[in-house]
Amino acid sequence: MSFSSRDFRDCLGQFATGVAVVTARANNGAKAGITINSFASVSLDPALVLFSVDQRAATHSLFAGECDRFCINILNRDQRDLSDLFSSPVQDRWEDLVFEDDCHGVPKLIGNLATFSCKRHAIHDGGDHSIIVGHVQDISMGNTGDPLLYYGGRYHSLGE
Ligand SMILES: Cc1cc2nc3c(=O)[nH]c(=O)nc-3n(C[C@H](O)[C@H](O)[C@H](O)COP(=O)(O)O)c2cc1C
Repeated sequence: MSFSSRDFRDCLGQFATGVAVVTARANNGAKAGITINSFASVSLDPALVLFSVDQRAATHSLFAGECDRFCINILNRDQRDLSDLFSSPVQDRWEDLVFEDDCHGVPKLIGNLATFSCKRHAIHDGGDHSIIVGHVQDISMGNTGDPLLYYGGRYHSLGE
């Protein structure tokens, strides 16, 4: 490789994204979630979306294993705390958190810009990540507002 890992990450950081929290419920009823910015739309018909999850993430075994349903919660600019919460090594990320279950019992966050309720469609090899493709079963548009953005390794808001 002609470039360092640091330079690669910095270069990737030039692509501005939104931020989402992917949530799921394990077989034992435990709630799980992870902050991601690897969300992408894939297909309109069928309705497919994807995200990638690091194989070293504690939640990897859930999203690439037992949890075949998940919600992708698109965060607004006022939900930065949720992004921090679901990307930090916190004992219980769900303590004191307000959420509701979708019709399949998957926890979804409240106050998002939008939520995609998905059934896992495919898992692809993505190097040190797994690419999870979800078949969208239901959608909800939440609060109108500005998205939480991530660019250059930092959060941003529209117009900043
Ligand atoms: C803005 C942002 C975007 C992130 N995007 C991803 C992502 O797309 N995939 C991923 O695996 N981790 C991503 N992470 C890192 C995870 O959120 C973080 O490693 C988390 O602690 C993993 O939790 P877990 O070990 O409990 O699964 C992102 C973190 C932030 C702050």
